[in-house]
Order: sequence, then structure tokens, then C-alpha cells
Amino acid sequence: MSNKKKVFIKTYGCQMNEYDSEKLVLDLEKNHYEQTSEIQEADMVLLNTCSIREKAAEKVYSELGRIKKFKDHKTDLKIGVTGCVAQAESLEIFDRQPAVDFIVGPQSYHKFPDIISKLENGERSIIETSFEASDKFDNIASLTGVTKPSAFVTIQEGCDKFCTFCVVPYTRGKEVSRSQNDILKEIRDIAAKGTKEVILLGQNVNAYNFEGKSLSSLIYSISQIVEIERIRFMTSHPKDMTDELINAFGEVPKLMPFLHLPVQSGSNKILKYMNRGHVVEEYLEIIYRLRLVRKDICFSSDFIVGYPGETDEDFRETMNLCERVKFSQAYSFNYSSRPGTPAARKQELDEKLKKKRLHSLQELLNGQQTDFLENQKDRQHKVLFEKKGRGINEYVGRTEQFSPVTVVSKENIIGQIRTVKINSVMSHSLKGILK
Ligand code: SAH
Ligand code: SF4
Ligand code: F3S
Repeated sequence: MSNKKKVFIKTYGCQMNEYDSEKLVLDLEKNHYEQTSEIQEADMVLLNTCSIREKAAEKVYSELGRIKKFKDHKTDLKIGVTGCVAQAESLEIFDRQPAVDFIVGPQSYHKFPDIISKLENGERSIIETSFEASDKFDNIASLTGVTKPSAFVTIQEGCDKFCTFCVVPYTRGKEVSRSQNDILKEIRDIAAKGTKEVILLGQNVNAYNFEGKSLSSLIYSISQIVEIERIRFMTSHPKDMTDELINAFGEVPKLMPFLHLPVQSGSNKILKYMNRGHVVEEYLEIIYRLRLVRKDICFSSDFIVGYPGETDEDFRETMNLCERVKFSQAYSFNYSSRPGTPAARKQELDEKLKKKRLHSLQELLNGQQTDFLENQKDRQHKVLFEKKGRGINEYVGRTEQFSPVTVVSKENIIGQIRTVKINSVMSHSLKGILK
């Protein structure tokens, strides 16, 4: 029997949170905890939260209500809230759910050992949400304990862009880049353990700048690591798509032909209201130039529909932009007012109108995704297999263009890059047979 305590961790939001959760588990393991997937047997429950839209933040409170019921039976259960809701709402969380024992913002995860010892001494209502001058990257262990065919590596955190709708600059602090040496060391370590693909992460990953070294120079260095066969990065901002970065898509075969490049709106007026710092024409120019250097590159984006002041004409311009680019996939959301952001002071549009527009956009984007996937039928793709599928002997991987593919194989092919012939198309993924 293990005498370790058990931690159950639930993660919401973006890949940054997923990566942080993995790191938090490693830190907790050093402090005599082990992860469990059964909430019933947990001694500690952590909710690593997201505050990007109201719905995401509210979900946390309903989940806390459910977790409180476990604590009613197991009074020494520790409940912690981490992530962006912790940072944004801070003390208010204790008010709304007194069963919570501790709150830790994303800038303070290095204080976990300290928090655990406080908890063990019976302290409650612990709160760590200060933004410190110290570099978070100095304090957190490298994520080398986990071996995966495709691994996230955080290289940049925070955001200085202050789009008027967005909480991220307030929850994640200013842009900070991690040292090239640390990143390369982490990637060499995971490569030695079997990782073949790295996805470089950052809220504004292409704003990466460590002592003058840019993302493109980092990509060139990573491409020298023999075992790493695929490089991706997300999420990029159109303003930071430099010439060198665009050219890297033409020059580095390991840099995969897929780019998630959020545009948010196709109307210059709305982009200006949003403080995005670029116009539609500049976005289209980036897409055009990337297609010139890399014929097979495909694009994904994020859209916000129903931003305050968006007219029918503005919305039509968003639809037009999609028609022009033809995205292989995209995410679209209704605007959600976030407390403390400049846009929250603006008059909101009618809910019904927002929903109707979102529906039209999603129909268009889904159609584009289907067209893109249909186009892959009967083609051969190189697929990196990452995990088992749901069915018997099923394995799931991704093409170079980031489309999910399922195949059936008797042999375990996790971690292999195999040629697959696509033979059918599902609503968001492909099916094929191994060559
Ligand atoms: N740094 C990235 C995006 C991070 S947030 C970028 O600049 O593109 C992920 C997505 O959530 C955003 O691209 C945006 O589409 C959406 N989002 C952010 N704030 C939102 C809000 N208040 N309401 C609706 N969607 C929002
Ligand atoms: Fe938010 Fe804008 Fe920063 Fe993206 S660039 S995280 S949308 S403020
Ligand atoms: Fe959400 Fe924070 Fe990520 S608000 S999207 S978890 S940076």
C-alpha cells in the first residue's frame, strides 16, 4: 500500500493550463502526493481554471459545489483553485465557496511546497495571487517526467497586447520568454525519451524574445535535434508574424504546414475597437505569403462574434474574410463581457442577434472544415500516432496539417510516424489504413 496522499486535478481552458497541471503534478509528487483519476479517493482536489469567457468561469463554481459534497463526508479533503479564475477573482472565491482551502494564481505555482506545508499545519484560506518580479520559469522544474510522442513545451507566457475584450493580460501578467538553453535542454531530454513532436506554447508565442533570440531562431535550433521530427507553435498573433518566421515555413521541413492564427473579426472597424493592432489586409497578406513559401500550409483561427458595435455589415466582412482564406478548422465564440476589461464598459448587443450571427459563421466554418477533410480522401499522409482510440485496436494520430486520423492496427503504433491512406471522412476527423 502506498502511503502517499492522492491529488485529483481537473483542468479547464487552454494548453497553457494543461502544461501547468502536468507540472503541478510533478511538484506535488515531490511532496508525497500521487495523481488519481478517482475524485472519491482524493485527499486534495485542484481545479485549474479558465476565465476567458463567463461560462468557463461560472463552471468552476458549479464544480466546486459538487466537490464540497465530498468534503462534507471527508472533512480533511483539501480543495484548491489554481489558474486564471484564481488570479482574476481571488478572495471572491472564498466568499462564493467557503469550502475552498487555497487559491493560487498562475504566477505563484513555485510556492506550492510552501502551501502544502501550511495545509499540513492546518492552515486554511491560503491565497497566493501576487505578481512577482521573479521569473516563473526559474522556479519550475522542467517537464521531463512525462513521455509523449507529441509534447507541449512552454516557451513564453503572458501578454502585453491588451485586446479590449480579454482577461489574459490581467491573469497571466506581462510577456516573459524562457531561455533558449532551458528550452533546448528540455526538448533534448524529452526527445531522448521518445518525443517526436514539440508544440511550443505561449499566449503570444511568436512574440518570443529571449535576449534578442526570436521564435524563428529557436525553431532553427530545435530542428537540429535529430529525434524531433515535427515542430509546431501556438498561439500566434498576426502582429508578430515576422518575415523570418514566415520564411521558416519554407526553409524548415520539420516546421509543420499548419498555423493557428486568430483574427477575431473581418472588419477593420471592429479590429480597431478590439485594439488588435492590425487590419484585415495585413492578415490576408500574411496568409498569402505563407502559402507562397509553403504550398500545403493550412490555417486555423479564432473569431469573436457580436463584439459591442458590430453591425450586420461588420459581420458580413467576417464572413467574407473566411470565404477568402478557407480555414481547415476554426474556433468561434460569442463575445462575453469580462469584468475589468475595457470592452466591459460598452453596450452589449442583443443576445439573439449574437447567437444568430455565430450560428451562420459556424455553419460556414464547419463547411470549410468538411471541404478540407473531404479533399484528403484517397490521399496518403504521414501520421504521428499519439494514443489509443475508442474502438478495439484503434489508434489516433495527426497528419502534418494537424488533422486527427484514426486507423486500426494489431501492432501498437503509438510513437510511430506511419504513412496512412485516407479512406473516409468523419465530421472533424479522418479514417484511414496503414500502408
Ligand atoms: N493569445 C491568443 C488568444 C488567447 S484567448 C490571441 O491573441 O489570439 C483564446 C480565444 O478566446 C481568443 O482568440 C478569442 O477568440 C477568445 N476570447 C478571448 N476573450 C474573449 C471574450 N471576452 N469573449 C469571447 N471570446 C473571447
Ligand atoms: Fe488576449 Fe489579445 Fe493577449 Fe490574445 S493577444 S491573449 S486575445 S489580450
Ligand atoms: Fe483560459 Fe487563462 Fe488559458 S483564461 S484560455 S486558462 S490563459
